[in-house]
Amino acid sequence: MARKLWLFLCPVLLVSAQSPRPVENHDESKVGAYTLPDPLLLANGRTVRDASTWKSQRRPEILHLFESEVYGRSAPKPGKLEFEVTSREAKALGGDATRKEVDIWLTPKQKMHLLIYLPNDRKRPYPVFLGLNFRGNQAVANDAGVAISTGWMRNAPGVENNRATEASRGSEASRFQVKTVLRRGYAVATVYYGDIFPDRKDALAESIIPHFYRPGQTAPDPDQWNAIGAWAWGLSRVMDYFEKDRDIDSKHVAVWGHSRLGKTALWAGAEDQRFAMVISNNSGEGGAALARRNYGETVERINAVFPHWFCANFKKYNNDVAALPVDQHELVALIAPRPVYIASAEEDLEADPRGEFLSAVGAGPVYSLFHAAGLGTDRMPALHQPIMNTIGYHIRAGKHDVTEYDWEQFLTFADKHWKAR
Ligand code: GCU
Repeated sequence: MARKLWLFLCPVLLVSAQSPRPVENHDESKVGAYTLPDPLLLANGRTVRDASTWKSQRRPEILHLFESEVYGRSAPKPGKLEFEVTSREAKALGGDATRKEVDIWLTPKQKMHLLIYLPNDRKRPYPVFLGLNFRGNQAVANDAGVAISTGWMRNAPGVENNRATEASRGSEASRFQVKTVLRRGYAVATVYYGDIFPDRKDALAESIIPHFYRPGQTAPDPDQWNAIGAWAWGLSRVMDYFEKDRDIDSKHVAVWGHSRLGKTALWAGAEDQRFAMVISNNSGEGGAALARRNYGETVERINAVFPHWFCANFKKYNNDVAALPVDQHELVALIAPRPVYIASAEEDLEADPRGEFLSAVGAGPVYSLFHAAGLGTDRMPALHQPIMNTIGYHIRAGKHDVTEYDWEQFLTFADKHWKAR
């Protein structure tokens, strides 16, 4: 009997193993029903009714769940910070900026290179937009004076044999809009994300993570950090440095990021409350987009294609996203009551713009505890109709990218919240 059953099942299993993976859903009518976890429901079954219970009880519960089940627990802050200012140029970018380069030692053996542009209007200390870059510091502006990143990099225009060349200068400039940001009175700071964890699935050994292993440990535990955790940790080390740099107003640091680095910015802002503002651009799955909403990229796909991004525990949810004890609206809620801005793009379907919007909506009740205004609506705004409360949101026309339009909104959002600075 047992053998007969096996013979019967066998062809079925073979067929399903060989059939192509289902295409991700891009049809709103097929999203299906889902129930989000309630950010205000304590593990003991009680409901949070005030900010102090949120801060002392519920926030730590949710933070812990994101650590153990999604991004992994990071190493603690290093005991001492070593840094060296390696260059300073008062007439950078045609005289518009002062440029500084700073080496920050993450471990006794590994450093990251921080590039800072300050406006030249003598109004220091400056509020700053801090964001990681994809192509090396030399890519964020057309500036011959910036040291070219020497680390491994994905091949792209100006990157040959996985190394950046002179031709890569300015290749990410449109995403950073350095001159516009400076003109509006903000400093710009950036680090190449590969200085912290080169973005390849086999690069763990080259990342900072092994430097923090226990004696005898050979891989992160299932609840320990991976690339996104490491990148976010690196952003906190920049914050450590900002606290010592008198050119920077470390109480007004906006951490921002695009796409995988938007996921990273949200996690950095959740973990490290020194970041006074968080901006996530097109961050999608594992970022602002709700995991339970079946639209665009899925937990299963992101874990399959980028197994080095999230902690090993996150893979438990590949086929059972409803079992996740958190969803991404609670990541946004961890930023409360600090201003957070979520930006979507109309054609960026894999990132699920509506799912990004709905997590901003879902964080609202936590902001209300602080009498801070959430989005104030659960109806998605039309294109180019930004909402700028303590939670902000826009969707613009176009593709997965960071554009001038996005920057105009980020700057207006920062102006609005920091005008009394
Ligand atoms: C891939 C990935 C996304 C990610 C994006 C990016 O498309 O699937 O989750 O946001 O890369 O970082 O550009």
